[in-house]
Amino acid sequence: MTLPRHIAVIMDGNGRWAEARGLPRSSGHQHGLEPVRMCIRRCRHYGIEALTVYAFSSENWRRPSAEVSGLMNLFFDALESDTGSLLENGVRLRFIGDRDSLEPALRARMAESEQRTAANHQLSFQVAVSYGGRNDLMRAARTLAERCVRGELRSEQIDEAAVAGEVSLAGLPEPDLFIRTGGEQRISNFLLWNIAYSELYFTDTLWPDFDEAAFDAALQQFATRQRRFGLTGAQVVGSQAGQH
Ligand code: IPE
Ligand code: IPE
Ligand code: MG
Repeated sequence: MTLPRHIAVIMDGNGRWAEARGLPRSSGHQHGLEPVRMCIRRCRHYGIEALTVYAFSSENWRRPSAEVSGLMNLFFDALESDTGSLLENGVRLRFIGDRDSLEPALRARMAESEQRTAANHQLSFQVAVSYGGRNDLMRAARTLAERCVRGELRSEQIDEAAVAGEVSLAGLPEPDLFIRTGGEQRISNFLLWNIAYSELYFTDTLWPDFDEAAFDAALQQFATRQRRFGLTGAQVVGSQAGQH
């Protein structure tokens, strides 16, 4: 089976999962932790190199403050409870997004977990917190502009590789498979640069219900896709035949 090297996930549907049970939305977020652990285990099982999950968007700051602070507390506690197991399982944790908008205590814990797992290389696990794809591109543009102003770079040297080198996921393979749970079929300002050629997979399953079978179903669907990258189907088949 053809496996993706990098999976990006929009973990959506926690609120609706809770509301359907008469529970507070915060309970849905709590129940969203186990599927994250499952995805990590599954990626390790298959030898998938990278996993990037969307935990909190730059737009999610507009939610009621109690929900926002509940989520921040959940992230804080999850780092406390789970960093040890990431460490033991060869997982390197990194955060992408605008850290400046986070509480200093959370920022410190994020940095600590990143440092503790920095030598791991089995699975690169990125968590997007206060992340926006447009902000990511804007920052890359600003960094490149600053390098031009300092005379380190000429504007004609700004090519696709230069931009790719400045966005948050620089250095990782592009996500091959993009999964969104919860039924919505949109990008919601996730990895705009990196998903240019990702295979998109949408499922109605709500995030807290996303289990091993659901993960494997996404992989199976991915394996059936013919990735053409602009070529004709015959060209793709021909180049695959040439590889054997
Ligand atoms: C995704 O679930 C988690 C976050 C955005 C933090 P939601 O909270 O968006 O759940 P729904 O979409 O309201 O069901
Ligand atoms: C996207 O989900 C962000 C995360 C899953 C963290 P949302 O629930 O915030 O997206 P919209 O608002 O429905 O587009
Ligand atoms: Mg949602």
